[in-house]
Amino acid sequence: MGPPDPILGVTEAFKRDTNPKKMNLGVGAYRDDQGKPFVLSCVRKAEALMTSKQLDKEYLPIGGFGEFTKACAQLALGADNEVLKSGRSVTVQTISGTGSLRIGGNYLARFHTGPHDVYLPKPSWGNHTPIFRDAGMQLKAYRYYDPSTCGFDFKGALDDISKIPEKSIIVLHACAHNPTGVDPRPEQWKEISDIVKKRNLLVFFDMAYQGFASGDIDRDAWAVRHFIETGHNIVLSQSFAKNMGLYAERVGGFTVVCKDAEEAKRVESQLKILIRPIYSNPPINGARIAATILNTPDLHSLWLEEVHGMANRIIKMREQLVAGLKQQGSSHNWQHVTDQIGMFCFTGLKPEQVERLTKEFSVYMTKDGRISMAGVTTANVGYLAEGIHAVTK
Ligand code: LMR
Repeated sequence: MGPPDPILGVTEAFKRDTNPKKMNLGVGAYRDDQGKPFVLSCVRKAEALMTSKQLDKEYLPIGGFGEFTKACAQLALGADNEVLKSGRSVTVQTISGTGSLRIGGNYLARFHTGPHDVYLPKPSWGNHTPIFRDAGMQLKAYRYYDPSTCGFDFKGALDDISKIPEKSIIVLHACAHNPTGVDPRPEQWKEISDIVKKRNLLVFFDMAYQGFASGDIDRDAWAVRHFIETGHNIVLSQSFAKNMGLYAERVGGFTVVCKDAEEAKRVESQLKILIRPIYSNPPINGARIAATILNTPDLHSLWLEEVHGMANRIIKMREQLVAGLKQQGSSHNWQHVTDQIGMFCFTGLKPEQVERLTKEFSVYMTKDGRISMAGVTTANVGYLAEGIHAVTK
């Protein structure tokens, strides 16, 4: 018998709990302020549009739905990006962010000419390790999070990155770092970019939360665009699970920036050869929804508003959680809760405190002390503060 998944296993345990006050703050899935799964209005409208067209269900090409992959790359890089204009990149549709990372891992395992060592920030998303390990890569780490400040260990990160053997692979979270909610500032990104360049590392950006950090799609893509501008030929994973709420539709993209259009064509051919024996070609429905939203001006602006709304609700919940903890009389400094950004808050709770919170309060979260702020609502934020205070006083 294998162990339950560290993140999705939390949902399984939550479902078994009969306490009416139970909260699932494990998996990163957005809820509205009533605690209900949220389907964006732009998604409903795109679906209605698609239904009215009575579209067929023919196979997609191996690389996916062209209208989607084009818009997907434009969203990340910016429509005016020189890379897109010169055709020196390729984007394939993937089975959301996980599928994208795995295709990327397999692609690098087959073609990367440098060491097959992947450097992850410490800590990183729980699934990064098995994804790259199962793709045949070795996992290494660089310092990222400083538990003493609950913030970014900038010095530690630069120190470690400067020692990474040349041509290794480094994974960077583009924004809203999972699980810590701690992102480098633009001037820190610039230094990271310089040092990564000096080490001649291959950059693998994971961008699962574009829009979710600041509420602004372009601002959240800043690091990705900066790295490209400064000459890094990055590879990039994108997910539309969070920013369009398309979790179960499994919509994502994998992009390789190449030195020229001819290389991009060759890379595309190899990605197709890689994908075909895994799942043949990707599913159409979610990609159609995303493409309809991205390519229809009215729906696109509605989407941007809705992304902003989701990000803002999360920021509000962070503030209310800190206020609640103060009201409970907590003497700890909870400023990191509001300083951190995106869907997650890395509370700093120890595993035994997490265990108590789950046992005594039916608050479910991952063992590392991460809570999904997206599962907190006006109605339950007080209860959460009460629980956290009880286990931390
Ligand atoms: C999470 O970290 O909770 C999300 O990215 C969902 C997942 O697949 O783990």
